[in-house]
Amino acid sequence: MRQSLPALVVKALQQVAGQDPVALHEPAFNGHEWDYVKECIDTRWVSSVGKFVDRFEQDLAAYTGAGYAVAVSNGTAALQVALLVAGVEPGNEVLVPALSFVATANAVSHCGAIPHFVDSDEATLGVDIPALARYLDEQTEQRHCQCYNRTTGRRVAAIVPMHTFGHPVDMPALLDLAARHNLTIIEDAAESLGSLLDGRHTGTFGLLGTLSFNGNKIITTGGGGAILTDNKELATKAKRLSTTAKLPHRWAFVHDEVAFNYRLPNLNAALGCAQLEQLDGFVAQKRQLVDRYLAAFDNVPGVSLYRERPGARANYWLQTLILDQEVADQRDSILAATNDAGVMTRPIWELLSSLPMYQANPSMELTGARSLGQRIINIPSSPELVRG
Ligand SMILES: Cc1ncc(COP(=O)(O)O)c(C=O)c1O
Repeated sequence: MRQSLPALVVKALQQVAGQDPVALHEPAFNGHEWDYVKECIDTRWVSSVGKFVDRFEQDLAAYTGAGYAVAVSNGTAALQVALLVAGVEPGNEVLVPALSFVATANAVSHCGAIPHFVDSDEATLGVDIPALARYLDEQTEQRHCQCYNRTTGRRVAAIVPMHTFGHPVDMPALLDLAARHNLTIIEDAAESLGSLLDGRHTGTFGLLGTLSFNGNKIITTGGGGAILTDNKELATKAKRLSTTAKLPHRWAFVHDEVAFNYRLPNLNAALGCAQLEQLDGFVAQKRQLVDRYLAAFDNVPGVSLYRERPGARANYWLQTLILDQEVADQRDSILAATNDAGVMTRPIWELLSSLPMYQANPSMELTGARSLGQRIINIPSSPELVRG
Protein backbone atom coordinates (compact mmCIF):
# COMPACT_ATOMS: atom_id res chain seq x y z
CA MET A 1 0.00 0.00 0.00
CA ARG A 2 1.24 3.55 -0.75
CA GLN A 3 2.38 5.46 2.30
CA SER A 4 0.62 8.68 3.28
CA LEU A 5 2.38 11.99 2.65
CA PRO A 6 3.01 12.62 6.38
CA ALA A 7 4.58 9.15 6.69
CA LEU A 8 6.79 9.79 3.64
CA VAL A 9 7.95 13.10 5.15
CA VAL A 10 8.80 11.43 8.48
CA LYS A 11 10.77 8.76 6.60
CA ALA A 12 12.70 11.33 4.56
CA LEU A 13 13.54 13.40 7.63
CA GLN A 14 14.70 10.36 9.58
CA GLN A 15 16.85 9.28 6.66
CA VAL A 16 18.86 12.48 7.24
CA ALA A 17 18.41 13.17 10.95
CA GLY A 18 18.35 9.60 12.27
CA GLN A 19 15.82 7.79 14.48
CA ASP A 20 16.54 9.60 17.77
CA PRO A 21 14.56 12.69 18.76
CA VAL A 22 15.94 15.71 16.99
CA ALA A 23 15.53 19.43 17.67
CA LEU A 24 14.80 22.12 15.11
CA HIS A 25 18.05 23.92 15.77
CA GLU A 26 20.69 23.41 18.43
CA PRO A 27 23.75 25.56 18.97
CA ALA A 28 27.19 23.94 18.56
CA PHE A 29 30.00 24.93 20.93
CA ASN A 30 33.14 23.30 19.60
CA GLY A 31 35.59 26.17 19.63
CA HIS A 32 37.11 28.52 22.19
CA GLU A 33 33.85 29.23 24.05
CA TRP A 34 35.03 27.90 27.42
CA ASP A 35 38.41 29.64 27.19
CA TYR A 36 36.99 33.05 26.36
CA VAL A 37 34.16 32.91 28.90
CA LYS A 38 36.62 31.72 31.57
CA GLU A 39 38.86 34.64 30.73
CA CYS A 40 35.98 37.04 31.46
CA ILE A 41 35.37 35.39 34.81
CA ASP A 42 39.06 35.17 35.71
CA THR A 43 39.60 38.85 34.87
CA ARG A 44 36.17 39.86 36.32
CA TRP A 45 35.26 41.71 33.13
CA VAL A 46 31.83 40.17 32.79
CA SER A 47 29.55 43.13 32.21
CA SER A 48 28.97 45.82 29.64
CA VAL A 49 32.60 46.81 29.08
CA GLY A 50 35.49 44.55 28.18
CA LYS A 51 37.84 43.44 25.47
CA PHE A 52 35.48 40.86 23.99
CA VAL A 53 32.80 43.47 23.31
CA ASP A 54 35.29 45.53 21.29
CA ARG A 55 36.70 42.47 19.59
CA PHE A 56 33.26 41.07 18.72
CA GLU A 57 32.30 44.38 17.11
CA GLN A 58 35.54 44.46 15.11
CA ASP A 59 35.22 40.80 14.08
CA LEU A 60 31.61 41.30 12.98
CA ALA A 61 32.53 44.34 10.91
CA ALA A 62 35.42 42.45 9.32
CA TYR A 63 33.31 39.36 8.61
CA THR A 64 30.38 41.21 7.07
CA GLY A 65 32.37 43.93 5.37
CA ALA A 66 30.38 46.61 7.23
CA GLY A 67 32.25 49.75 8.20
CA TYR A 68 31.03 49.47 11.79
CA ALA A 69 29.26 46.99 14.06
CA VAL A 70 27.64 47.93 17.37
CA ALA A 71 26.86 45.01 19.68
CA VAL A 72 23.62 45.20 21.67
CA SER A 73 21.54 43.03 23.99
CA ASN A 74 19.37 41.36 21.32
CA GLY A 75 18.17 41.59 17.73
CA THR A 76 14.96 43.41 18.64
CA ALA A 77 16.90 46.14 20.44
CA ALA A 78 19.26 46.31 17.44
CA LEU A 79 16.32 46.97 15.11
CA GLN A 80 14.78 49.56 17.43
CA VAL A 81 18.03 51.50 17.75
CA ALA A 82 18.73 51.21 14.01
CA LEU A 83 15.28 52.61 13.19
CA LEU A 84 15.76 55.47 15.64
CA VAL A 85 19.18 56.50 14.36
CA ALA A 86 17.85 56.24 10.78
CA GLY A 87 15.41 58.99 11.74
CA VAL A 88 12.15 57.05 12.14
CA GLU A 89 9.85 59.17 14.28
CA PRO A 90 6.71 58.50 16.29
CA GLY A 91 3.69 58.48 13.98
CA ASN A 92 5.71 57.48 10.88
CA GLU A 93 4.81 54.30 9.03
CA VAL A 94 7.47 51.69 8.35
CA LEU A 95 7.00 48.99 5.69
CA VAL A 96 7.51 45.53 7.18
CA PRO A 97 6.93 42.07 5.68
CA ALA A 98 3.79 40.47 7.11
CA LEU A 99 5.66 37.18 6.87
CA SER A 100 8.30 37.70 9.56
CA PHE A 101 9.03 37.06 13.19
CA VAL A 102 7.05 39.40 15.43
CA ALA A 103 10.18 41.31 16.50
CA THR A 104 10.42 43.00 13.08
CA ALA A 105 7.10 44.77 13.69
CA ASN A 106 7.55 45.15 17.45
CA ALA A 107 10.77 47.11 16.99
CA VAL A 108 8.87 49.56 14.79
CA SER A 109 6.17 49.87 17.46
CA HIS A 110 8.82 50.42 20.16
CA CYS A 111 9.80 53.58 18.23
CA GLY A 112 6.20 54.82 18.36
CA ALA A 113 5.97 54.17 14.61
CA ILE A 114 3.37 52.08 12.79
CA PRO A 115 4.18 48.82 10.98
CA HIS A 116 2.63 48.84 7.50
CA PHE A 117 2.57 45.31 6.15
CA VAL A 118 3.87 44.24 2.76
CA ASP A 119 3.63 41.02 0.77
CA SER A 120 6.27 38.33 0.21
CA ASP A 121 7.03 36.23 -2.86
CA GLU A 122 7.97 32.62 -3.33
CA ALA A 123 11.11 33.47 -5.33
CA THR A 124 12.93 34.96 -2.32
CA LEU A 125 10.58 34.36 0.67
CA GLY A 126 11.04 38.12 1.22
CA VAL A 127 9.41 41.37 0.09
CA ASP A 128 7.56 40.97 -3.23
CA ILE A 129 9.24 43.91 -4.93
CA PRO A 130 7.17 44.16 -8.15
CA ALA A 131 3.90 44.00 -6.15
CA LEU A 132 5.24 46.56 -3.67
CA ALA A 133 6.26 48.87 -6.53
CA ARG A 134 2.69 48.84 -7.90
CA TYR A 135 1.27 49.36 -4.42
CA LEU A 136 3.54 52.31 -3.60
CA ASP A 137 2.70 53.98 -6.92
CA GLU A 138 -1.01 53.82 -6.06
CA GLN A 139 -0.95 54.26 -2.32
CA THR A 140 1.74 56.88 -1.71
CA GLU A 141 2.72 60.33 -2.93
CA GLN A 142 5.86 62.41 -2.65
CA ARG A 143 5.83 65.67 -0.71
CA HIS A 144 9.06 67.63 -0.27
CA CYS A 145 11.06 64.50 -1.18
CA GLN A 146 9.31 62.38 1.45
CA CYS A 147 6.89 59.52 0.96
CA TYR A 148 3.33 59.86 2.34
CA ASN A 149 0.50 57.36 2.62
CA ARG A 150 -2.42 58.90 0.69
CA THR A 151 -5.00 57.19 2.93
CA THR A 152 -3.60 57.81 6.40
CA GLY A 153 -1.70 61.02 5.60
CA ARG A 154 1.27 59.68 7.55
CA ARG A 155 4.85 59.74 6.38
CA VAL A 156 6.18 56.36 5.23
CA ALA A 157 9.75 56.70 6.43
CA ALA A 158 11.44 53.36 5.93
CA ILE A 159 11.28 49.75 4.82
CA VAL A 160 12.63 46.76 6.74
CA PRO A 161 13.34 43.85 4.38
CA MET A 162 13.94 40.57 6.23
CA HIS A 163 16.11 37.78 4.81
CA THR A 164 13.88 34.85 5.67
CA PHE A 165 15.65 31.75 7.03
CA GLY A 166 18.88 33.16 5.56
CA HIS A 167 17.64 33.70 1.97
CA PRO A 168 18.52 37.16 0.67
CA VAL A 169 15.87 39.59 -0.54
CA ASP A 170 16.58 41.00 -4.03
CA MET A 171 18.41 43.99 -2.56
CA PRO A 172 19.50 45.71 -5.81
CA ALA A 173 15.85 45.88 -6.92
CA LEU A 174 14.77 47.05 -3.47
CA LEU A 175 17.47 49.73 -3.38
CA ASP A 176 16.08 51.09 -6.67
CA LEU A 177 12.51 51.05 -5.44
CA ALA A 178 13.39 52.64 -2.10
CA ALA A 179 15.38 55.40 -3.83
CA ARG A 180 12.43 56.16 -6.14
CA HIS A 181 10.12 56.57 -3.14
CA ASN A 182 12.57 58.16 -0.69
CA LEU A 183 12.44 55.28 1.75
CA THR A 184 15.31 54.44 4.08
CA ILE A 185 16.28 50.76 4.17
CA ILE A 186 17.05 49.04 7.45
CA GLU A 187 17.68 45.35 6.85
CA ASP A 188 16.55 42.78 9.37
CA ALA A 189 19.40 40.31 8.86
CA ALA A 190 18.68 38.49 12.14
CA GLU A 191 18.52 35.16 10.30
CA SER A 192 21.10 35.73 7.61
CA LEU A 193 24.54 36.10 9.17
CA GLY A 194 26.80 34.34 6.66
CA SER A 195 24.41 34.89 3.71
CA LEU A 196 25.63 36.78 0.66
CA LEU A 197 24.01 38.27 -2.40
CA ASP A 198 26.30 38.88 -5.37
CA GLY A 199 29.21 38.43 -2.98
CA ARG A 200 27.99 41.11 -0.58
CA HIS A 201 26.89 40.34 2.95
CA THR A 202 23.21 40.72 3.81
CA GLY A 203 22.70 43.55 6.26
CA THR A 204 25.18 45.79 4.42
CA PHE A 205 22.97 46.96 1.54
CA GLY A 206 20.73 49.29 3.52
CA LEU A 207 21.63 52.37 5.52
CA LEU A 208 21.77 50.02 8.51
CA GLY A 209 21.33 46.30 9.05
CA THR A 210 20.73 44.27 12.19
CA LEU A 211 21.70 40.81 13.44
CA SER A 212 20.48 38.50 16.21
CA PHE A 213 22.54 36.03 18.24
CA ASN A 214 19.60 34.44 20.02
CA GLY A 215 20.11 30.79 21.03
CA ASN A 216 18.43 29.48 17.88
CA LYS A 217 20.49 31.53 15.39
CA ILE A 218 23.43 30.37 13.26
CA ILE A 219 25.80 31.70 15.93
CA THR A 220 24.70 32.54 19.45
CA THR A 221 25.80 34.68 22.36
CA GLY A 222 22.97 33.30 24.50
CA GLY A 223 21.15 36.53 23.71
CA GLY A 224 22.54 39.37 21.68
CA GLY A 225 22.33 41.45 18.56
CA ALA A 226 24.28 43.93 16.48
CA ILE A 227 23.79 46.92 14.24
CA LEU A 228 25.80 47.15 11.01
CA THR A 229 26.42 50.34 9.07
CA ASP A 230 29.01 52.05 6.90
CA ASN A 231 28.06 55.41 8.35
CA LYS A 232 30.37 56.44 11.18
CA GLU A 233 28.00 59.06 12.54
CA LEU A 234 25.13 56.58 12.74
CA ALA A 235 27.37 53.97 14.37
CA THR A 236 28.43 56.49 17.01
CA LYS A 237 24.80 57.46 17.62
CA ALA A 238 23.77 53.81 17.88
CA LYS A 239 26.46 53.15 20.45
CA ARG A 240 25.45 56.22 22.48
CA LEU A 241 21.77 55.35 22.36
CA SER A 242 22.41 51.76 23.45
CA THR A 243 24.71 52.79 26.32
CA THR A 244 22.51 55.28 28.23
CA ALA A 245 24.02 58.27 26.33
CA LYS A 246 26.74 58.60 28.94
CA LEU A 247 29.30 61.25 28.12
CA PRO A 248 32.81 59.80 28.28
CA HIS A 249 34.45 60.91 31.53
CA ARG A 250 36.79 59.27 34.01
CA TRP A 251 34.39 59.53 36.94
CA ALA A 252 31.37 61.73 36.23
CA PHE A 253 27.97 60.29 35.36
CA VAL A 254 26.52 62.73 32.88
CA HIS A 255 23.93 61.60 30.32
CA ASP A 256 22.61 64.06 27.78
CA GLU A 257 19.67 62.15 26.31
CA VAL A 258 17.02 59.62 27.35
CA ALA A 259 18.63 56.45 26.09
CA PHE A 260 18.70 52.68 26.56
CA ASN A 261 20.74 50.14 28.45
CA TYR A 262 21.01 47.75 25.51
CA ARG A 263 24.73 46.96 25.69
CA LEU A 264 25.93 43.39 25.16
CA PRO A 265 27.78 42.07 28.25
CA ASN A 266 31.40 40.99 27.82
CA LEU A 267 30.48 37.41 28.82
CA ASN A 268 28.08 37.16 25.90
CA ALA A 269 30.52 38.85 23.54
CA ALA A 270 33.16 36.28 24.56
CA LEU A 271 30.81 33.52 23.43
CA GLY A 272 30.19 35.50 20.25
CA CYS A 273 33.90 35.77 19.40
CA ALA A 274 34.30 32.02 19.75
CA GLN A 275 31.17 31.34 17.70
CA LEU A 276 32.13 33.73 14.93
CA GLU A 277 35.40 31.84 14.48
CA GLN A 278 33.27 28.80 13.56
CA LEU A 279 30.69 30.53 11.37
CA ASP A 280 32.15 29.50 8.02
CA GLY A 281 32.15 25.89 9.20
CA PHE A 282 28.50 26.13 10.29
CA VAL A 283 27.50 27.58 6.92
CA ALA A 284 29.36 24.79 5.12
CA GLN A 285 27.62 22.15 7.26
CA LYS A 286 24.22 23.68 6.63
CA ARG A 287 24.86 23.76 2.91
CA GLN A 288 25.79 20.07 2.99
CA LEU A 289 22.58 19.39 4.87
CA VAL A 290 20.62 20.81 1.92
CA ASP A 291 22.15 18.20 -0.36
CA ARG A 292 21.22 15.42 2.07
CA TYR A 293 17.66 16.62 2.37
CA LEU A 294 17.41 17.07 -1.41
CA ALA A 295 18.32 13.43 -1.91
CA ALA A 296 15.93 12.28 0.82
CA PHE A 297 12.97 14.28 -0.53
CA ASP A 298 13.60 13.41 -4.15
CA ASN A 299 10.66 11.02 -4.29
CA VAL A 300 8.27 12.76 -1.94
CA PRO A 301 5.46 14.13 -4.11
CA GLY A 302 4.17 17.66 -3.58
CA VAL A 303 7.02 18.72 -1.28
CA SER A 304 10.08 20.72 -2.29
CA LEU A 305 13.09 21.89 -0.39
CA TYR A 306 13.60 25.64 -0.72
CA ARG A 307 16.82 26.41 -2.62
CA GLU A 308 18.79 29.62 -2.88
CA ARG A 309 18.23 31.64 -6.03
CA PRO A 310 20.96 32.61 -8.54
CA GLY A 311 23.40 35.17 -7.13
CA ALA A 312 22.65 34.21 -3.55
CA ARG A 313 24.86 32.22 -1.22
CA ALA A 314 22.48 31.46 1.63
CA ASN A 315 23.49 30.36 5.12
CA TYR A 316 20.45 27.99 5.09
CA TRP A 317 19.86 28.88 8.73
CA LEU A 318 16.56 26.99 8.83
CA GLN A 319 15.91 24.35 6.20
CA THR A 320 12.54 24.91 4.59
CA LEU A 321 10.00 22.64 2.96
CA ILE A 322 7.37 24.19 0.70
CA LEU A 323 4.23 22.20 0.04
CA ASP A 324 2.53 22.39 -3.34
CA GLN A 325 -0.87 24.07 -3.20
CA GLU A 326 -2.56 20.68 -3.85
CA VAL A 327 -1.18 19.20 -0.61
CA ALA A 328 -1.24 22.38 1.51
CA ASP A 329 -4.21 20.98 3.45
CA GLN A 330 -1.89 18.26 4.78
CA ARG A 331 0.47 20.69 6.50
CA ASP A 332 -0.91 20.16 9.99
CA SER A 333 -0.96 16.36 9.58
CA ILE A 334 2.70 16.54 8.53
CA LEU A 335 3.53 18.73 11.55
CA ALA A 336 1.71 16.30 13.85
CA ALA A 337 3.29 13.15 12.36
CA THR A 338 6.83 14.54 12.44
CA ASN A 339 6.59 15.92 15.98
CA ASP A 340 4.95 12.65 17.14
CA ALA A 341 7.95 10.81 15.68
CA GLY A 342 10.33 13.03 17.68
CA VAL A 343 11.43 15.05 14.67
CA MET A 344 10.87 18.67 15.55
CA THR A 345 9.26 20.71 12.79
CA ARG A 346 7.29 23.92 12.85
CA PRO A 347 5.20 26.05 10.53
CA ILE A 348 6.27 29.51 9.46
CA TRP A 349 4.92 32.38 11.58
CA GLU A 350 1.31 33.51 11.55
CA LEU A 351 1.07 36.64 9.40
CA LEU A 352 1.88 39.61 11.61
CA SER A 353 -1.14 41.43 10.20
CA SER A 354 -3.37 38.73 11.73
CA LEU A 355 -2.02 39.15 15.29
CA PRO A 356 -4.40 40.99 17.64
CA MET A 357 -2.18 44.03 18.12
CA TYR A 358 -1.58 44.50 14.38
CA GLN A 359 -4.96 43.66 12.83
CA ALA A 360 -5.90 47.32 12.32
CA ASN A 361 -2.55 48.31 10.78
CA PRO A 362 -2.22 49.42 7.17
CA SER A 363 -1.43 46.62 4.77
CA MET A 364 -1.16 45.87 1.08
CA GLU A 365 -2.79 42.74 -0.39
CA LEU A 366 -0.95 39.76 1.11
CA THR A 367 -1.65 37.09 -1.50
CA GLY A 368 1.88 35.70 -1.57
CA ALA A 369 2.44 35.84 2.17
CA ARG A 370 -0.89 34.15 2.84
CA SER A 371 -0.11 31.32 0.44
CA LEU A 372 3.43 30.81 1.79
CA GLY A 373 2.09 31.04 5.34
CA GLN A 374 0.02 27.91 4.72
CA ARG A 375 2.69 25.90 2.92
CA ILE A 376 6.01 26.29 4.75
CA ILE A 377 7.45 23.85 7.25
CA ASN A 378 10.88 24.23 8.84
CA ILE A 379 12.76 21.01 9.50
CA PRO A 380 15.75 20.09 11.71
CA SER A 381 18.65 22.33 10.73
CA SER A 382 21.41 22.03 13.34
CA PRO A 383 24.85 22.18 11.73
CA GLU A 384 25.91 19.08 13.64
CA LEU A 385 23.40 16.94 11.75
CA VAL A 386 26.05 16.54 9.06
CA ARG A 387 28.90 15.58 11.34
CA GLY A 388 28.53 11.87 10.71
C1 LIG B 1 13.53 37.97 11.60
C2 LIG B 1 13.90 38.25 13.02
N1 LIG B 1 13.94 39.53 13.43
C3 LIG B 1 14.29 39.85 14.67
C4 LIG B 1 14.59 38.88 15.61
C5 LIG B 1 14.84 39.33 16.99
O1 LIG B 1 16.01 38.90 17.54
P1 LIG B 1 16.13 38.69 19.13
O2 LIG B 1 15.38 37.45 19.48
O3 LIG B 1 17.60 38.57 19.33
O4 LIG B 1 15.57 39.90 19.80
C6 LIG B 1 14.57 37.52 15.22
C7 LIG B 1 14.92 36.39 16.07
O5 LIG B 1 14.76 36.15 17.17
C8 LIG B 1 14.20 37.21 13.89
O6 LIG B 1 14.13 35.94 13.47
